[in-house]
Amino acid sequence: MKNYKHEEQISLFDIEKTSNILKESVECDEVDFVSFRELVPEITDTGYLTHAIVSYPAKFIPQVVRYAINTYTKEDDWIIDPFAGSGTVGVEAYLCKRNAVLFDLNLLLNHIMPLKVYRGKERLKIESLGNLLDGMIENNTHLFAPSWSNVNYWYAPEILELLSQYWGFIHNIEQDVYTGIIKSALLKVSKRFSYTEHRTPKLARSKRKLAAIEELLKENWKEKLIDVVYDHSFKTLSRINDFVTLTKHHQNQVDFHGGVDSSYIDVPRECDALITSPPYLQAQEYIRSTKMDLYWLGHTDEEIQALSRLEIPYRKADRMIHTKTLDNIRDKLTRPDLCNRLDSYFCHTINALENTVNRLKPNATACIFVGNPRIDGITVELWRILAEYFTERGYQFEKVYEDRIKTRQLFGVRKNKNPDGMKSEYLLILRKTTV
Ligand SMILES: C[S@@+](CC[C@H](N)C(=O)[O-])C[C@H]1O[C@@H](n2cnc3c(N)ncnc32)[C@H](O)[C@@H]1O
Repeated sequence: MKNYKHEEQISLFDIEKTSNILKESVECDEVDFVSFRELVPEITDTGYLTHAIVSYPAKFIPQVVRYAINTYTKEDDWIIDPFAGSGTVGVEAYLCKRNAVLFDLNLLLNHIMPLKVYRGKERLKIESLGNLLDGMIENNTHLFAPSWSNVNYWYAPEILELLSQYWGFIHNIEQDVYTGIIKSALLKVSKRFSYTEHRTPKLARSKRKLAAIEELLKENWKEKLIDVVYDHSFKTLSRINDFVTLTKHHQNQVDFHGGVDSSYIDVPRECDALITSPPYLQAQEYIRSTKMDLYWLGHTDEEIQALSRLEIPYRKADRMIHTKTLDNIRDKLTRPDLCNRLDSYFCHTINALENTVNRLKPNATACIFVGNPRIDGITVELWRILAEYFTERGYQFEKVYEDRIKTRQLFGVRKNKNPDGMKSEYLLILRKTTV
């Protein structure tokens, strides 16, 4: 087994605050070292069960979510996540017999969740999946052309033609969990067999990848592509079946709404807890990173561009957020573009959090997992700024955990080893007061 202790030493300060509502700033007076992995020994693999079905930038590690669920919620509670991403909170909630309501700007959520939280009680059949896959390989009656103006730039013509044939088949039959499984495999090959570097999140056509595809085309590329599709599909089916076995008696609900802007949503119900990780202050561009997937799944150029414009922190701020720590940072920042980014980030991140925490029941807990990014060399203590903002608006600061990161996998193979980069992440715990 992997020795995470050496590779990814995570230590956790548990900083408790004894006073209730903090007025001007939030200070820490007690520090405990703990580790999420030690706190949640039942999870030994971050990609266990259905968590690893689809890769997604800056996913939560499930141990953090499980810890928050175990500590701050009880069975049948409703948990809300306004930045659900790939739905880690939904999976953990269902496994722990909680309900969840998830929102994210990225439409991918709507495609991922039926696979990651499959609520059927019967195990899926290998033969049914096999027959469907065989049908797809043999059939070429429908071709699917993604609504993507420069799709030809990303593929060798023969590969594009084969992918269009497989996607054409899968889009034109009745949709169910089996078609979802095959789509997840087709997403994998659509990226791997394209000219983009498939291990980096954003689309990037490189000489290295072009040469690799050229080489592939000289060999039995079609058999290789088909092997990956079958292999990935059967692995996904097996992960879902393990999930089904484990959740046979679970009856909870996981509602999901991809393609919505959490800064302005109306939350449909009262909830017992919020567990979330907002986007990073540094531009991560989740929509741009996943747009190849979105095109193949049938979304259009217009839809994708419209969503990209709503992504935090690219939109203009429509109000100014003030807290002591944030105002100090503003005073030090000299570059107007960075000031705008900071204002936009806090305006829309806080709008989204406020929309959702305001629908929490009295005494409910908000668990917000954030980093400590730097902007123009200045550290932005996100958790402190959020704590300062919300403690002036009916929330009580309960504690903050510091999760020290030696090397954390942010995107695929890219490791965050930069000594000046983000070194810690924090789980901020706020409680809604009864008044
Ligand atoms: C750190 S990621 C969340 C990852 C998630 N915790 C997981 O485990 O997969 C932040 C998410 O915020 C989303 N986001 C960015 N701007 C948004 C907005 N205006 N409304 C809703 N979601 C937004 C991004 O699409 C991204 O999925």
